[in-house]
Amino acid sequence: MVQLQDENIEDEEEKVITTRKKSVKSSDDPLLTFLSGIKGLSDTMKKRVQKVLSTEGIVDPRGIKALTQKELENLPGISDATASLLRDQFETKSEGSIFLSLEEREELETVREKIKTGSKALDKLLQGGVPTGCFVELYGAPQSGKTQMCYSLAANTLLPEDFGGLDSGVIWLDTEGSFSSQRLKQVLSYYEYTYNIPKGKLNTNRFMVAATRTLAQIEQAIKEAGKIIPKNKVKLLIVDSLMDPFRSEYGGLGELASRQKHLNKFLHSLMRIAEAYNLAVVYTNQVMANPDPFATAMDKVQPVGGFVLGHASDIRLWLRRATSKIRNQYDAPHARRALITDCGWLPQEECHFSLGAFGITDVEEEANHRKLALELESGLVAPSEDEEEVQTEFVKL
Ligand SMILES: Nc1ncnc2c1ncn2[C@@H]1O[C@H](COP(=O)(O)OP(=O)(O)O)[C@@H](O)[C@H]1O
Ligand SMILES: [Mg+2]
Repeated sequence: MVQLQDENIEDEEEKVITTRKKSVKSSDDPLLTFLSGIKGLSDTMKKRVQKVLSTEGIVDPRGIKALTQKELENLPGISDATASLLRDQFETKSEGSIFLSLEEREELETVREKIKTGSKALDKLLQGGVPTGCFVELYGAPQSGKTQMCYSLAANTLLPEDFGGLDSGVIWLDTEGSFSSQRLKQVLSYYEYTYNIPKGKLNTNRFMVAATRTLAQIEQAIKEAGKIIPKNKVKLLIVDSLMDPFRSEYGGLGELASRQKHLNKFLHSLMRIAEAYNLAVVYTNQVMANPDPFATAMDKVQPVGGFVLGHASDIRLWLRRATSKIRNQYDAPHARRALITDCGWLPQEECHFSLGAFGITDVEEEANHRKLALELESGLVAPSEDEEEVQTEFVKL
């Protein structure tokens, strides 16, 4: 009897799903649906606009939001009047009034999802993880763990929701040539191993990396991102590292003003993408010594990029080696500390985390993870049937 009821429920659910699928089908192309709602455009013009936008990589109305009025006007075949019509339609359709009540604003903020870092202590510091729709800057000396944190954030974004992930896509802009696919796979293998994730459940097809050594390549990648983001449900965009191409293409002091202007423009294009698609933008940054003799301990090292970058970052996280006291206390030679140096809604607090074969973890876990990594490598851990593939892959890595 119970079984029968269940079957009926399943039948009903099946019906609902099929109806939903049918209704979605009629509006399969979000850009077409959006364009069809514009009253002042003829059908021929709508088709032409759609063609222009898709050749520019815009296949979703949110891509229009990610462009300025000027950028829209500069697209070939789009007149100033058409650009205005597109933006007006977007504004009336999705926003109504520019003013929001406190409740509406709160609702908007709760849309933010949190990407786990791999360390519970750091997640707690960030009130759940790295929030989507925000700019997060990871800065610190070489080897402080900036790139490793990016691997862990990428893995946690790709991870299925059942295992605390976002089941979403990641875009990685590698400006230093330091990205290693083997390393990301190694971090992912750990999650597959510990959560016993069935083979094929972890969708790595949604991970896209671009070698962007020059500013022209970065700009090209940002343009192409418009196509990739909606298709792969991208929720995390990594730039490792942000200032490197700006520093190498703009030399001496004489070019500083032009560099900052260019940086500002680039950050604004990223901001529009982050807002339009509700994705987290995480960038790494180098540090320089502060020449001010009266600088406090915290200000002795500063992230590069000046005020322009400082104002753009929603959360600035300073990564550095933990003190020997902490490293000895937890038998964690790779322990690091993370300090929130600037954030409009989080206190200036610090926590510890560790680096290891499995990416970012908690300091308390480092010794155990070190042992497990060795056991996995030497084949001492007997994997279950399901884990066999993961085990083989782990050893291969
Ligand atoms: N496969 C690995 N296994 C264990 N630890 C690693 C591995 N790869 C990198 N690390 C750790 O990460 C550190 C480098 O951190 P990274 O994030 O790349 O530095 P940066 O801040 O310069 O980007 C290394 O010193 C090492 O401790
Ligand atoms: Mg690095």
